[in-house]
Amino acid sequence: MSQQNCCCCGNNQVDERLEKAREIIKKYKDVKGGLIPVLHQIQNIYGYLPEDVLKEVSSELNIPMSEIFGVASFYSYFSLEPKGEHVIRVCLGTACYVKGAQLLIDKISQELNISVNKTTEDGKFTLEATRCLGACGLAPVMVIGEKVYGRLTPDMIPDILKEYK
Ligand code: FES
Repeated sequence: MSQQNCCCCGNNQVDERLEKAREIIKKYKDVKGGLIPVLHQIQNIYGYLPEDVLKEVSSELNIPMSEIFGVASFYSYFSLEPKGEHVIRVCLGTACYVKGAQLLIDKISQELNISVNKTTEDGKFTLEATRCLGACGLAPVMVIGEKVYGRLTPDMIPDILKEYK
């Protein structure tokens, strides 16, 4: 067991997470169809799927990295990059799209200087486009964390973002 501590908080959280991930990998090493549950549990530990850990999954489960990346990018639940503190999800379902959801995405991209599926450099925001959120009556809709914003126009975006900065 490594005793290297985190440079910021002094905890050995980094190693604890890796140890947990290794236990999971070991548990599913000889289980057929074990890849998805392994990825789920690793995602739960880290909040995303770190490439270094995926390399260990690949060698232990004997699954090529290309296949792992294929699975990880197919399911929207999985993320290959760390997400920001606030995840902004703009609905691009039909009702929202026809009411200008793309303009909201453009405005957020411009305000935060990121494109869809990217995270700001300070780690505060991740921008995502999503399918129908089931609130079409409020179109166009976006969600930040758990909070739903409806009937949006691009000029409302800066003030909303300010709440989270
Ligand atoms: S299409 Fe956006 S909430 Fe349904």
